[in-house]
Amino acid sequence: MARKVILDVDPGADDALAVCAALFDPRVEVLAVTAVGGNVSPERATLNVQAIVEQLDPPRWPRLGQASQPEGGLPVKGRFLYGDDSLGADGFRVAERQHVLASEKVICEQVRAHPHAVTIVALGPLTNIARAMARDPELPALVGRIVIAGGALHGPGNITPTAEFNMYCDPPAAQAVFRSPSTKTLVPLDVTNRVTLSYDVFHRLPSENTRVGRFVRGILPSVFRAYRQQFGIEGIHVHDSVALMAALNPELVVCREMAGDVETMGELTTGMTVFDRRRVPTWRHNMEVVVDAQTDALTDALLQSIAAAAEAAG
Ligand code: BDR
Ligand code: CA
Repeated sequence: MARKVILDVDPGADDALAVCAALFDPRVEVLAVTAVGGNVSPERATLNVQAIVEQLDPPRWPRLGQASQPEGGLPVKGRFLYGDDSLGADGFRVAERQHVLASEKVICEQVRAHPHAVTIVALGPLTNIARAMARDPELPALVGRIVIAGGALHGPGNITPTAEFNMYCDPPAAQAVFRSPSTKTLVPLDVTNRVTLSYDVFHRLPSENTRVGRFVRGILPSVFRAYRQQFGIEGIHVHDSVALMAALNPELVVCREMAGDVETMGELTTGMTVFDRRRVPTWRHNMEVVVDAQTDALTDALLQSIAAAAEAAG
């Protein structure tokens, strides 16, 4: 039976790639794609989610969820890596939809409808997940698992020296989710940074003549440009797709039970993930953390998934 999944995303090209891989994967039933502000504003994230699903037009449309402002707003104005609308230079035009439910409401409804059976794959700031938990205090016990792309275990952050982007965008939400009594898997930067797609990837993507091929070939070139300009590297990271692939292919990763929390108010450390790794720890384990991965196999799994999506979408 296909695994029921909610994708919570702030698209973002790497979010978009992950959505594309998941929407046509026979192992997955995407119940909902919920938007959250992060790489882009909440408004833009909502439009981008709609644009992605419209462009890909999967056989079964997921519910869509509308993003709202986090408490205190987003600390960054858009992510330089993904351009103005975050889906590539040309963007996708969409008409604003009426009556789209708030993301946290969609999450609550879907988890309640399928108790203990839903995996939430959280690929953006944890605003919606924390709000859903505040709205329904039983949600942490009712959700099957939350897979979180973000945080850093040993390495530095990627938006400040200490913080990973998704954690930094809404640290109180991240802290609330980390501390919640839910089953969680964290896929930190230490692992996602180990997958780099080079230009060769274009030889392995589906042809321009397919819907999926057009979509992914449309969104990726501007990301390659941004990585070259910002970091001087001829390759890109696709954190969110790596996290999704880790969730779908657990045999390709090594996990360790750990006790983690998120700093919410440090002058230099806001948004930093902190783990109790003392010789005699006193914090209780509250998540599993992906500490190692077969990165080539994860890359292959992603590209196979995109290829299969192209075939399925026609
Ligand atoms: C995360 O930050 C975002 O920009 C990406 O979409 C990804 O979710 C990586 O730190
Ligand atoms: Ca993201």
